[in-house]
Amino acid sequence: MKIGVFDSGKGGTTVLSAIKKLLPDAEYYYIADSKNCPYGEKTNQELLKIVKDIVNKLIDWGANIIVVACNTATTKCIKILREDYPDVCFVGTEPAIKLASKTGAKKILVMATPGTIESERTAQLLVESEKPGQKIELLACPGLAYAIENNNRVDEVLSGLLVDHPKDYDAVVLGCTHYSLIKDKIQNHFKAATLIDGNDGVARRVMMLANQI
Ligand code: DGL
Repeated sequence: MKIGVFDSGKGGTTVLSAIKKLLPDAEYYYIADSKNCPYGEKTNQELLKIVKDIVNKLIDWGANIIVVACNTATTKCIKILREDYPDVCFVGTEPAIKLASKTGAKKILVMATPGTIESERTAQLLVESEKPGQKIELLACPGLAYAIENNNRVDEVLSGLLVDHPKDYDAVVLGCTHYSLIKDKIQNHFKAATLIDGNDGVARRVMMLANQI
């Protein structure tokens, strides 16, 4: 079993680790496309071209499953990828809004890249997930994935985004795989919130598909 995984850098390694726990014996190809980081600040067309180049490479390498370990590339491109590559088995990583909503949290914040926040898929997830009495807010975080990728000015960028932001959330969705790498720093701001990412769900889906191939 060959599993291809990609992201705009190291964010997707958090997804890769979750998959490896369930499928330790698979063969993995990981593409860290840091030269094109940040995906979250590209136009749809730019991003689609970047993503297709990577998908073509992973197909050439014989990947049986391709995991889009990036919320931005998933929310913006996976629908088109599935149409344009009908024979390829894709698994995407979406902001875990449904999961957060199911916890019964009353006030939820979704942190993600500008690209993910403005995507139609995120709007659809909100409509599908929000329950009566529940409030789900979105926060676009320009510059944060880039800072994490380059390990440069992370605290400065994060505090610039959060300094004037309310703290009283029950749950915070980490809607960018890079943010899982700075969970502690985000938790430090939202002390009472449960931080939620979709990585375990992605891993379970990959395992299910791998068992069918
Ligand atoms: N890690 C990615 C995500 O989950 C992309 C970050 C970026 O390159 O902007 O959205």
